[in-house]
Amino acid sequence: QLTLLLAFCFGYLLGSIPFGLLFTKLAGTEDLRSIGSGNIGATNVLRTGRKGLAAATLLCDALKGTLAVLAAQHAAGYEAALIAGFGAFLGHLFPVWLGFKGGKGVATYIGLLIGLAWPGALIFIGLWLVVAFLSRYSSLSALVASALTPIALLALGRPEAAALFFLLGILLWIMHRANIQRLLNGTEGKIGK
Ligand code: G3P
Repeated sequence: QLTLLLAFCFGYLLGSIPFGLLFTKLAGTEDLRSIGSGNIGATNVLRTGRKGLAAATLLCDALKGTLAVLAAQHAAGYEAALIAGFGAFLGHLFPVWLGFKGGKGVATYIGLLIGLAWPGALIFIGLWLVVAFLSRYSSLSALVASALTPIALLALGRPEAAALFFLLGILLWIMHRANIQRLLNGTEGKIGK
C-alpha cells in the first residue's frame, strides 16, 4: 500500500540522520568512528569527554524516532506509525549517507517507545538505569532492557507494539554482537571510561 510505503520512507529518512556524527563534527572533535567503540551513538560521544554533546545525541537520536511515529500516526494512523517506526530504526542502523554503517539503535528505540507506547519507555529507561547503576555497562543495560520491554508491552495489553519491539530488539542484539563478545571476554568499556 502506498501510504505504508511512504510512511516507511519518511521514517527511514528521519532515522538516518546521524546526530552523533554531525554534532561531534560541528564541535570539531575527532571522528567518532575512530575512537572508543567506533559507534556513532551517545555512549561513544561520551567517550570524547563532551557530556553535553552526548546528551544532545541521545535526545536527538531518540526524538527523530518519536517524531517519525507521531507524524505518521497523525497523517495515516497507527499501522503507518508502526511502519514509520520500523523505517526510522532501520534508517538509524543502516543510513544510506554513511554507506549503511550506522548506530546500534538504543536511543532511537527509546524514542519510538515514547511515541508508540510511552509506559514501555518508562519501563525500558527504568531497567536501563538499574542495570547501568549495578554494572556500569551501557551495552548490557540496553540488552537487558530490550529483552524485557516486549514482555512488559504484552503485559500492558499492547500486542502490536510488543511484536514490533521484539523485532527491533533482535536487530539491537545483532548490532551489539561485538559488545556481547566483549562482555563475555570481560573487555567491554564501562560508562564514562
Ligand atoms: O547504544 C550503544 C551502547 O549500547 C553501546 O555503545 O559505544 O559502547 O558500543 P558502545
